[in-house]
Amino acid sequence: MRSVRFGIVGAGLIGRRHAKAIAQAEGAELTALADPDPRAAGVASDLDVPLFSTLEEMIQSGLCDGVFLCTPTAMHGDGGMACIAAGMPVLVEKPIDSDVLAARRLVEAAEAAGVPLLTGHHRRHNPLIAAAKAEIDRGALGRIVSAHAMFWLMKPDDYFDVPWRRQKGAGPVLTNLAHDLDLMRYLVGEVASVYALSSNAVRGNPVEESCVVTFDFSNGALGTANVSDTIVAPWSWEITTGENPAYPVTQESCYQIGGTEGAIDLPSGRVWSNPAMRSWWEPLTVRHSPRAAGDPLVLQAEQFARVIRDGEAPLVSGREGLRTIELIDAVLRSAESGARVYLEE
Ligand SMILES: NC(=O)c1ccc[n+]([C@@H]2O[C@H](COP(=O)([O-])OP(=O)(O)OC[C@H]3O[C@@H](n4cnc5c(N)ncnc54)[C@H](O)[C@@H]3O)[C@@H](O)[C@H]2O)c1
Repeated sequence: MRSVRFGIVGAGLIGRRHAKAIAQAEGAELTALADPDPRAAGVASDLDVPLFSTLEEMIQSGLCDGVFLCTPTAMHGDGGMACIAAGMPVLVEKPIDSDVLAARRLVEAAEAAGVPLLTGHHRRHNPLIAAAKAEIDRGALGRIVSAHAMFWLMKPDDYFDVPWRRQKGAGPVLTNLAHDLDLMRYLVGEVASVYALSSNAVRGNPVEESCVVTFDFSNGALGTANVSDTIVAPWSWEITTGENPAYPVTQESCYQIGGTEGAIDLPSGRVWSNPAMRSWWEPLTVRHSPRAAGDPLVLQAEQFARVIRDGEAPLVSGREGLRTIELIDAVLRSAESGARVYLEE
């Protein structure tokens, strides 16, 4: 199997995690890094790859078959466009851009050029999500009626010492809920409209710290999401899945999805049903949805390699990333205006 050569742009928090994931991925190798920050020299030397100060120089070196774009969110559109113009397949970290128009331009350019564009919603690569999707798609829950996502945790005080983290656009809706709503879209379907309320009552920063969202899916199901980064609680993806070893893990659930034949809670993967007759008088039985092991970042890198080498369709395309950021934008607009916001088909 030919090894696909990857370059990483942006040697920050997530760029360094991708470097580790690529090292473990089958059929992939890291061959270059680009970052203008002087601190990146140490990262490149530890990884034993050449360092470039720009994305363009890295592409021109001919050392890469694909790029992981891990720069700050507002730079995703421009960096992605540079890759597409050079015919270079690119995985853009999530969110695909904070600006919906920039994201749309990028997706349209990639589709017109026929260059693979992927979005780094890596949680879709988690085997527990693949298992839940298989349960839903084979009808184990019947017709989906409602879904709920929780993201409650406490970001410590010093997190907000960095000025941009106190400003609008840097809050848990764009940073964290984007992951949860992407999974709701993936598992249940497209969202038709949203109504959101947000609050900054505890810290008083310009950015929201809490937000509650109600939404309806185009297939008729209803949804709720509840996000806050100022609550001490165990119910978030971070603190329930163990996906990122930096967070202490609990055995709680953060998502519930229910249908006419049963319900599943995640990440436990417990599927609840009434085997004899559907009724509140009947005992509920529970089984665990079967799933494989695997690190989603490694699985994502392996899929990106297959997209380039074998022409496989991306699990999370640029257009999927765009639909998720359109949904997040609708949540923010609804919270700002107090009105229900409808998404275009
Ligand atoms: N998938 C996830 O779970 C996840 C987790 C963390 C961050 N992210 C996303 O990844 C992106 C980066 O976040 P981060 O926390 O790693 O940020 P970061 O600030 O830690 O790292 C960003 C890096 O980009 C570099 N950079 C800036 N301008 C550049 C340029 N022109 N060319 C090359 N490099 C440049 C910076 O020097 C820095 O090293 C954000 O969009 C964020 O939302 C995703």
